[in-house]
Amino acid sequence: MLQLSNYQFFDLAPVLRTMREEVLEGLLAPQKTLSPKYFYDERGSRLFDEITHLPEYYPTRTETALFETHSAEIAQHFSGDVTLIEYGSGSSRKIRALLEAMRPAAYVPLDISGEHLEASAKTLQADYDWLDIYAVCADYSQEIKLPEAIPLNQPMAFFPGSSIGNFTPEGAQAFLVRARALMGDQGKLLIGIDRKKDKAVLELAYNDAAGVTAAFNLNVLTHLNRELDGNFELDGFAHRAIYNEQVGSIQMFLQSLKPQQVTLAGEQIEFAVGEQIHTENSFKYDPEQFAELAAKSGWAQELHLTDAQDYFSVFLLSAA
Ligand SMILES: C[S@@+](CC[C@H](N)C(=O)[O-])C[C@H]1O[C@@H](n2cnc3c(N)ncnc32)[C@H](O)[C@@H]1O
Repeated sequence: MLQLSNYQFFDLAPVLRTMREEVLEGLLAPQKTLSPKYFYDERGSRLFDEITHLPEYYPTRTETALFETHSAEIAQHFSGDVTLIEYGSGSSRKIRALLEAMRPAAYVPLDISGEHLEASAKTLQADYDWLDIYAVCADYSQEIKLPEAIPLNQPMAFFPGSSIGNFTPEGAQAFLVRARALMGDQGKLLIGIDRKKDKAVLELAYNDAAGVTAAFNLNVLTHLNRELDGNFELDGFAHRAIYNEQVGSIQMFLQSLKPQQVTLAGEQIEFAVGEQIHTENSFKYDPEQFAELAAKSGWAQELHLTDAQDYFSVFLLSAA
Protein backbone atom coordinates (compact mmCIF):
# COMPACT_ATOMS: atom_id res chain seq x y z
CA MET A 1 0.00 0.00 0.00
CA LEU A 2 1.32 3.40 -1.03
CA GLN A 3 0.22 6.38 1.10
CA LEU A 4 0.57 10.08 0.17
CA SER A 5 -1.41 12.60 2.27
CA ASN A 6 -5.08 11.76 1.55
CA TYR A 7 -4.30 9.31 -1.27
CA GLN A 8 -3.98 5.54 -0.76
CA PHE A 9 -3.43 2.79 -3.30
CA PHE A 10 -4.47 -0.82 -2.67
CA ASP A 11 -3.42 -3.57 -5.07
CA LEU A 12 -5.78 -6.53 -4.66
CA ALA A 13 -3.63 -8.36 -7.30
CA PRO A 14 -6.58 -9.15 -9.53
CA VAL A 15 -5.08 -10.50 -12.70
CA LEU A 16 -2.12 -12.81 -12.56
CA ARG A 17 -3.72 -15.35 -10.26
CA THR A 18 -6.36 -16.30 -12.79
CA MET A 19 -5.22 -14.98 -16.17
CA ARG A 20 -3.42 -18.10 -17.47
CA GLU A 21 -6.24 -20.47 -16.54
CA GLU A 22 -9.03 -18.22 -17.73
CA VAL A 23 -7.39 -17.28 -21.06
CA LEU A 24 -6.42 -20.87 -21.96
CA GLU A 25 -9.87 -22.16 -21.08
CA GLY A 26 -11.39 -19.52 -23.40
CA LEU A 27 -8.99 -20.11 -26.29
CA LEU A 28 -9.17 -23.90 -26.16
CA ALA A 29 -13.00 -23.95 -26.21
CA PRO A 30 -14.85 -24.72 -29.49
CA GLN A 31 -15.96 -21.04 -29.73
CA LYS A 32 -12.75 -19.24 -28.81
CA THR A 33 -13.48 -16.45 -26.30
CA LEU A 34 -11.55 -13.86 -24.28
CA SER A 35 -12.84 -11.69 -21.45
CA PRO A 36 -12.88 -7.97 -22.40
CA LYS A 37 -11.03 -7.22 -19.17
CA TYR A 38 -7.81 -8.32 -20.96
CA PHE A 39 -8.03 -5.34 -23.33
CA TYR A 40 -6.85 -3.12 -20.50
CA ASP A 41 -3.11 -3.00 -20.17
CA GLU A 42 -1.56 0.50 -20.17
CA ARG A 43 -1.84 0.82 -23.97
CA GLY A 44 -5.38 -0.61 -23.97
CA SER A 45 -6.48 2.01 -21.46
CA ARG A 46 -4.98 4.76 -23.62
CA LEU A 47 -6.63 3.39 -26.76
CA PHE A 48 -9.98 3.28 -24.97
CA ASP A 49 -9.52 6.97 -24.09
CA GLU A 50 -8.95 7.68 -27.79
CA ILE A 51 -12.15 5.80 -28.63
CA THR A 52 -14.14 8.05 -26.31
CA HIS A 53 -13.17 11.08 -28.44
CA LEU A 54 -14.09 9.54 -31.81
CA PRO A 55 -16.97 11.19 -33.71
CA GLU A 56 -18.65 7.79 -34.24
CA TYR A 57 -18.52 6.88 -30.52
CA TYR A 58 -21.65 8.63 -29.17
CA PRO A 59 -21.84 6.90 -25.71
CA THR A 60 -19.17 8.92 -23.88
CA ARG A 61 -20.30 12.38 -24.94
CA THR A 62 -23.98 11.52 -24.47
CA GLU A 63 -23.51 10.11 -20.97
CA THR A 64 -21.09 12.88 -19.90
CA ALA A 65 -23.65 15.50 -20.96
CA LEU A 66 -26.28 13.73 -18.81
CA PHE A 67 -24.01 13.88 -15.75
CA GLU A 68 -23.13 17.52 -16.41
CA THR A 69 -26.75 18.56 -16.92
CA HIS A 70 -28.22 16.61 -14.03
CA SER A 71 -25.44 16.56 -11.40
CA ALA A 72 -27.31 18.95 -9.05
CA GLU A 73 -30.48 16.84 -9.33
CA ILE A 74 -28.48 13.68 -8.57
CA ALA A 75 -26.79 15.40 -5.60
CA GLN A 76 -30.21 16.17 -4.07
CA HIS A 77 -30.65 12.43 -3.45
CA PHE A 78 -27.73 12.49 -0.96
CA SER A 79 -26.80 14.10 2.33
CA GLY A 80 -23.89 13.65 4.74
CA ASP A 81 -20.55 12.02 4.10
CA VAL A 82 -20.89 10.01 0.92
CA THR A 83 -18.23 7.64 -0.46
CA LEU A 84 -18.28 7.28 -4.25
CA ILE A 85 -16.99 3.94 -5.50
CA GLU A 86 -16.40 3.86 -9.25
CA TYR A 87 -16.24 0.47 -10.94
CA GLY A 88 -13.92 0.56 -13.98
CA SER A 89 -12.86 4.14 -13.30
CA GLY A 90 -10.39 4.36 -16.23
CA SER A 91 -9.31 8.00 -16.55
CA SER A 92 -11.79 9.17 -13.85
CA ARG A 93 -13.22 11.88 -16.09
CA LYS A 94 -16.98 11.37 -15.73
CA ILE A 95 -16.74 11.55 -11.95
CA ARG A 96 -15.67 15.21 -12.03
CA ALA A 97 -19.14 16.71 -12.49
CA LEU A 98 -20.39 14.55 -9.60
CA LEU A 99 -17.48 15.43 -7.30
CA GLU A 100 -18.24 19.09 -7.80
CA ALA A 101 -21.99 18.76 -7.25
CA MET A 102 -21.88 16.21 -4.42
CA ARG A 103 -18.66 17.10 -2.52
CA PRO A 104 -18.34 13.51 -1.25
CA ALA A 105 -16.03 12.66 1.66
CA ALA A 106 -14.18 9.98 -0.27
CA TYR A 107 -13.71 8.61 -3.78
CA VAL A 108 -12.73 5.01 -4.54
CA PRO A 109 -11.65 4.52 -8.17
CA LEU A 110 -11.53 0.77 -8.79
CA ASP A 111 -9.96 -0.65 -11.96
CA ILE A 112 -8.11 -3.69 -13.25
CA SER A 113 -5.55 -1.58 -15.15
CA GLY A 114 -3.21 -0.72 -12.25
CA GLU A 115 -0.73 1.75 -13.78
CA HIS A 116 -3.44 3.74 -15.51
CA LEU A 117 -5.51 3.73 -12.31
CA GLU A 118 -2.63 5.17 -10.28
CA ALA A 119 -1.83 7.86 -12.84
CA SER A 120 -5.50 8.90 -13.14
CA ALA A 121 -6.05 8.93 -9.36
CA LYS A 122 -3.00 11.15 -8.84
CA THR A 123 -4.16 13.58 -11.53
CA LEU A 124 -7.53 13.77 -9.82
CA GLN A 125 -5.93 14.26 -6.42
CA ALA A 126 -4.01 17.26 -7.75
CA ASP A 127 -7.29 18.88 -8.87
CA TYR A 128 -9.39 17.95 -5.78
CA ASP A 129 -7.06 18.23 -2.81
CA TRP A 130 -10.00 18.23 -0.34
CA LEU A 131 -10.99 14.71 -1.38
CA ASP A 132 -9.83 11.44 0.23
CA ILE A 133 -8.96 9.03 -2.59
CA TYR A 134 -8.57 5.27 -2.09
CA ALA A 135 -7.53 3.72 -5.42
CA VAL A 136 -8.21 -0.02 -5.60
CA CYS A 137 -6.78 -2.30 -8.28
CA ALA A 138 -9.29 -5.17 -8.44
CA ASP A 139 -11.38 -7.28 -10.82
CA TYR A 140 -15.08 -6.44 -10.56
CA SER A 141 -16.11 -9.60 -12.39
CA GLN A 142 -15.28 -11.37 -9.13
CA GLU A 143 -16.31 -10.80 -5.52
CA ILE A 144 -14.43 -7.85 -4.01
CA LYS A 145 -13.61 -7.24 -0.37
CA LEU A 146 -12.77 -3.56 0.05
CA PRO A 147 -9.96 -2.62 2.46
CA GLU A 148 -11.27 -1.73 5.92
CA ALA A 149 -9.78 1.77 5.77
CA ILE A 150 -12.50 2.76 3.27
CA PRO A 151 -15.55 4.37 4.95
CA LEU A 152 -18.78 2.77 3.73
CA ASN A 153 -21.48 4.48 5.82
CA GLN A 154 -23.15 6.10 2.81
CA PRO A 155 -21.75 4.42 -0.27
CA MET A 156 -22.73 5.21 -3.82
CA ALA A 157 -21.45 2.88 -6.52
CA PHE A 158 -20.86 4.54 -9.89
CA PHE A 159 -20.72 2.30 -12.98
CA PRO A 160 -20.73 4.48 -16.10
CA GLY A 161 -19.85 3.78 -19.72
CA SER A 162 -22.43 1.00 -20.10
CA SER A 163 -19.64 -1.32 -18.98
CA ILE A 164 -22.37 -3.52 -17.51
CA GLY A 165 -23.14 -4.39 -21.14
CA ASN A 166 -19.90 -6.39 -21.27
CA PHE A 167 -21.62 -8.97 -19.08
CA THR A 168 -24.35 -11.24 -20.46
CA PRO A 169 -27.74 -10.35 -18.87
CA GLU A 170 -27.18 -13.22 -16.38
CA GLY A 171 -23.67 -11.92 -15.61
CA ALA A 172 -25.10 -8.40 -15.28
CA GLN A 173 -27.61 -9.63 -12.72
CA ALA A 174 -24.84 -11.38 -10.78
CA PHE A 175 -22.80 -8.14 -10.86
CA LEU A 176 -25.78 -6.10 -9.60
CA VAL A 177 -26.31 -8.58 -6.77
CA ARG A 178 -22.61 -8.38 -5.80
CA ALA A 179 -22.70 -4.55 -5.89
CA ARG A 180 -25.89 -4.56 -3.77
CA ALA A 181 -24.16 -6.76 -1.16
CA LEU A 182 -21.00 -4.63 -1.14
CA MET A 183 -22.90 -1.30 -0.87
CA GLY A 184 -25.18 -2.58 1.91
CA ASP A 185 -28.63 -1.38 2.96
CA GLN A 186 -27.73 2.35 2.75
CA GLY A 187 -26.18 1.93 -0.68
CA LYS A 188 -27.05 3.53 -3.99
CA LEU A 189 -25.91 2.86 -7.54
CA LEU A 190 -25.61 5.36 -10.40
CA ILE A 191 -25.26 3.40 -13.62
CA GLY A 192 -25.06 4.19 -17.34
CA ILE A 193 -26.81 1.98 -19.88
CA ASP A 194 -26.46 2.10 -23.66
CA ARG A 195 -29.86 1.79 -25.34
CA LYS A 196 -31.07 -0.43 -28.17
CA LYS A 197 -31.10 1.65 -31.34
CA ASP A 198 -30.57 1.65 -35.08
CA LYS A 199 -28.11 -1.08 -36.13
CA ALA A 200 -26.16 1.31 -38.40
CA VAL A 201 -25.53 3.80 -35.56
CA LEU A 202 -24.38 0.99 -33.27
CA GLU A 203 -22.11 -0.69 -35.80
CA LEU A 204 -20.47 2.60 -36.80
CA ALA A 205 -19.60 3.30 -33.14
CA TYR A 206 -17.52 0.08 -33.05
CA ASN A 207 -16.06 0.35 -36.59
CA ASP A 208 -14.56 3.84 -36.63
CA ALA A 209 -12.94 5.19 -39.77
CA ALA A 210 -9.62 5.91 -38.03
CA GLY A 211 -9.26 2.24 -36.98
CA VAL A 212 -8.81 2.98 -33.25
CA THR A 213 -11.33 0.31 -32.17
CA ALA A 214 -9.53 -2.20 -34.41
CA ALA A 215 -6.21 -1.33 -32.72
CA PHE A 216 -7.87 -1.62 -29.30
CA ASN A 217 -9.28 -5.06 -30.17
CA LEU A 218 -5.94 -6.33 -31.58
CA ASN A 219 -4.05 -4.97 -28.55
CA VAL A 220 -5.45 -7.84 -26.48
CA LEU A 221 -3.12 -10.15 -28.44
CA THR A 222 -0.09 -7.96 -27.60
CA HIS A 223 -1.16 -8.05 -23.94
CA LEU A 224 -1.40 -11.86 -24.01
CA ASN A 225 1.95 -12.19 -25.83
CA ARG A 226 3.62 -10.17 -23.09
CA GLU A 227 1.91 -11.66 -20.02
CA LEU A 228 1.66 -15.29 -21.15
CA ASP A 229 4.71 -15.63 -23.37
CA GLY A 230 2.73 -15.88 -26.60
CA ASN A 231 3.55 -15.48 -30.28
CA PHE A 232 0.32 -14.11 -31.78
CA GLU A 233 1.10 -12.22 -35.00
CA LEU A 234 -1.20 -9.21 -35.10
CA ASP A 235 -1.31 -9.04 -38.90
CA GLY A 236 -2.75 -12.57 -38.92
CA PHE A 237 -6.04 -11.31 -37.41
CA ALA A 238 -8.72 -8.77 -38.39
CA HIS A 239 -11.16 -6.74 -36.26
CA ARG A 240 -14.91 -7.39 -36.70
CA ALA A 241 -17.82 -5.82 -34.82
CA ILE A 242 -21.45 -6.59 -35.61
CA TYR A 243 -24.78 -5.88 -33.90
CA ASN A 244 -26.61 -9.13 -33.18
CA GLU A 245 -30.20 -7.90 -33.06
CA GLN A 246 -31.54 -11.22 -31.80
CA VAL A 247 -29.63 -10.98 -28.54
CA GLY A 248 -29.32 -7.16 -28.48
CA SER A 249 -25.54 -7.07 -28.34
CA ILE A 250 -22.59 -5.65 -30.26
CA GLN A 251 -20.24 -8.60 -30.65
CA MET A 252 -16.57 -7.99 -31.28
CA PHE A 253 -14.28 -10.61 -32.80
CA LEU A 254 -10.71 -11.14 -33.97
CA GLN A 255 -10.86 -13.21 -37.13
CA SER A 256 -7.95 -15.38 -38.23
CA LEU A 257 -6.86 -14.46 -41.76
CA LYS A 258 -5.11 -17.80 -42.38
CA PRO A 259 -4.73 -21.27 -40.90
CA GLN A 260 -2.23 -20.81 -38.08
CA GLN A 261 -0.87 -22.21 -34.86
CA VAL A 262 -0.13 -19.96 -31.90
CA THR A 263 1.84 -20.83 -28.76
CA LEU A 264 0.60 -19.28 -25.52
CA ALA A 265 1.60 -20.15 -21.96
CA GLY A 266 3.22 -23.34 -23.30
CA GLU A 267 0.04 -24.53 -25.10
CA GLN A 268 -0.56 -24.80 -28.87
CA ILE A 269 -3.73 -23.12 -30.17
CA GLU A 270 -4.92 -23.94 -33.72
CA PHE A 271 -6.83 -21.47 -35.90
CA ALA A 272 -8.65 -22.31 -39.13
CA VAL A 273 -8.91 -19.57 -41.75
CA GLY A 274 -11.91 -17.37 -40.85
CA GLU A 275 -12.12 -18.72 -37.29
CA GLN A 276 -12.97 -16.02 -34.73
CA ILE A 277 -12.08 -15.20 -31.15
CA HIS A 278 -15.08 -13.55 -29.49
CA THR A 279 -13.44 -10.68 -27.58
CA GLU A 280 -16.36 -8.55 -26.36
CA ASN A 281 -20.09 -8.33 -25.89
CA SER A 282 -21.73 -4.98 -25.44
CA PHE A 283 -25.37 -5.66 -24.56
CA LYS A 284 -27.85 -2.85 -25.16
CA TYR A 285 -31.00 -2.42 -23.07
CA ASP A 286 -34.44 -0.87 -23.25
CA PRO A 287 -35.06 1.08 -20.01
CA GLU A 288 -37.90 -1.27 -18.95
CA GLN A 289 -35.67 -4.29 -19.51
CA PHE A 290 -32.88 -2.80 -17.39
CA ALA A 291 -35.27 -1.66 -14.62
CA GLU A 292 -36.56 -5.24 -14.40
CA LEU A 293 -33.03 -6.63 -14.16
CA ALA A 294 -32.18 -4.11 -11.41
CA ALA A 295 -35.36 -4.94 -9.46
CA LYS A 296 -34.54 -8.67 -9.61
CA SER A 297 -31.11 -7.83 -8.16
CA GLY A 298 -32.33 -5.92 -5.09
CA TRP A 299 -32.26 -2.35 -6.46
CA ALA A 300 -35.16 0.15 -6.57
CA GLN A 301 -35.30 2.97 -9.13
CA GLU A 302 -34.97 6.57 -7.82
CA LEU A 303 -34.23 8.41 -11.05
CA HIS A 304 -34.05 7.73 -14.77
CA LEU A 305 -32.31 10.25 -17.05
CA THR A 306 -32.07 10.07 -20.82
CA ASP A 307 -30.96 12.26 -23.74
CA ALA A 308 -33.15 13.79 -26.46
CA GLN A 309 -32.38 10.96 -28.92
CA ASP A 310 -32.97 8.19 -26.35
CA TYR A 311 -29.47 6.92 -27.09
CA PHE A 312 -28.33 6.45 -23.48
CA SER A 313 -29.90 6.08 -20.02
CA VAL A 314 -28.60 6.83 -16.54
CA PHE A 315 -30.35 5.21 -13.58
CA LEU A 316 -30.00 6.14 -9.92
CA LEU A 317 -30.95 3.08 -7.88
CA SER A 318 -31.15 2.52 -4.14
CA ALA A 319 -30.95 -0.65 -2.09
CA ALA A 320 -34.45 -2.17 -1.96
C1 LIG B 1 -15.17 0.80 -21.24
S1 LIG B 1 -13.99 1.43 -20.10
C2 LIG B 1 -14.95 2.67 -19.25
C3 LIG B 1 -14.09 3.70 -18.58
C4 LIG B 1 -14.88 4.82 -17.88
N1 LIG B 1 -15.58 4.32 -16.69
C5 LIG B 1 -15.86 5.44 -18.82
O1 LIG B 1 -17.06 5.31 -18.56
O2 LIG B 1 -15.45 6.07 -19.80
C6 LIG B 1 -13.93 0.12 -18.95
C7 LIG B 1 -13.02 0.38 -17.76
O3 LIG B 1 -13.21 -0.69 -16.83
C8 LIG B 1 -11.96 -1.33 -16.54
N2 LIG B 1 -12.29 -2.77 -16.43
C9 LIG B 1 -12.69 -3.61 -17.43
N3 LIG B 1 -12.95 -4.83 -16.92
C10 LIG B 1 -12.71 -4.74 -15.58
C11 LIG B 1 -12.81 -5.67 -14.51
N4 LIG B 1 -13.22 -6.93 -14.72
N5 LIG B 1 -12.50 -5.24 -13.27
C12 LIG B 1 -12.08 -3.97 -13.03
N6 LIG B 1 -11.97 -3.04 -14.01
C13 LIG B 1 -12.28 -3.42 -15.27
C14 LIG B 1 -11.06 -1.00 -17.70
O4 LIG B 1 -9.69 -1.01 -17.31
C15 LIG B 1 -11.54 0.38 -18.10
O5 LIG B 1 -10.90 1.39 -17.38
